[in-house]
Amino acid sequence: MERKRIAVFDTKKYERPYYEAVGDFTFDFFDTRLTSETTSLCQNHTGILCFVNDSLDRACLESLAKRGVRYIGLRCAGFNHVDLKAATELNIRVCRVPGYSPQSVAEFALLQMLCLARKFHRSLNRTKEMNFELDGLVGQALFEKTVGVIGTGQIGRSLIGLLDGFHCQILAFDELPDPQMTKGRSLRYTTLDEIFTRSDFVSLHVPLTPETLHLVDNHRVAQMKEGAFIINTGRGGLVNTKALIDGLKTKKLGGAGLDVYEEEEKYFSRDFSDRGIDDDQLARLMSFPNVLVTSHQAYLTKLSLSQIAATTLDNLRLWRDNKTLSNEVSFT
Ligand code: NAI
Repeated sequence: MERKRIAVFDTKKYERPYYEAVGDFTFDFFDTRLTSETTSLCQNHTGILCFVNDSLDRACLESLAKRGVRYIGLRCAGFNHVDLKAATELNIRVCRVPGYSPQSVAEFALLQMLCLARKFHRSLNRTKEMNFELDGLVGQALFEKTVGVIGTGQIGRSLIGLLDGFHCQILAFDELPDPQMTKGRSLRYTTLDEIFTRSDFVSLHVPLTPETLHLVDNHRVAQMKEGAFIINTGRGGLVNTKALIDGLKTKKLGGAGLDVYEEEEKYFSRDFSDRGIDDDQLARLMSFPNVLVTSHQAYLTKLSLSQIAATTLDNLRLWRDNKTLSNEVSFT
């Protein structure tokens, strides 16, 4: 059988080996992200592989269709960055990796909580400067704290399992509550109002959709307890950045752990250390001593990378062999 050529966009050194080891496709790797301007890199590629920050809008998809692209494999779970209506109209099939090591993301969310609660990042900065002073480093224990978990899918439930070990009181919200989750643990499904008014930490694990866009806005920040923390490993658009900054400036909020950011496409997973950044909101966020910004790395473990590659390749083979695409996403 002739080996299909597949274009892989926004690839990183650390993920190529998982694809290079495979013998039944020829992969052409591009560091660049896919946008309507970079579709010209697709030459004789009927299939392409993309990542979270590729811009799969209508203009890009139309250009891909003209170049003969018939399949897009997303190397990620979220598909909010794909215009599915356009893809369906243009007969381009889209598949994703629905779940990969949710534990990796959940552990990262817990890491953000512990780091913020114990001011761990500040301690490390001090000791690097040979400053062993402890003043200002009094932290909070997670033990018996109230944690709001919004979205109890794969990642949310994994986080709940971890929080259970800290004897946290868990308030959960999901459009499809799972009664099994409440068994044997201190967890209750409740309203968003109760979550925001009662939680010491609120952690976001719903997908970004028109309904969840700016789920955390001025109103929700105002509802939060004095000194409460927001943890976002979901998607940047779940939080209205201006509302978050206002909540931090007024010291209403105790801090935020942000692995995602509304305008992250321009900066995340790239090196701007020589150039600096033009995004004043991102710069303001990073200036707060009680905000942790990471570059969409919650998923980034060896376990996740191997699971993402395995499912991406399975999806690709199903498409090549004209079989049912079990992980297809389409416009409904
Ligand atoms: P999942 O699909 O297993 O769970 C999502 C949950 O959200 C489901 O239980 C669903 O019922 C609920 N939900 C959806 N829309 C809702 C709404 N409008 N209101 C209330 N509940 C709603 O997804 P999973 O694997 O837990 O991932 C969650 C999100 O985490 C992904 O959509 C993605 O955006 C993000 N993510 C971030 C990563 C990172 O590295 N920072 C890595 C992987 C995922």
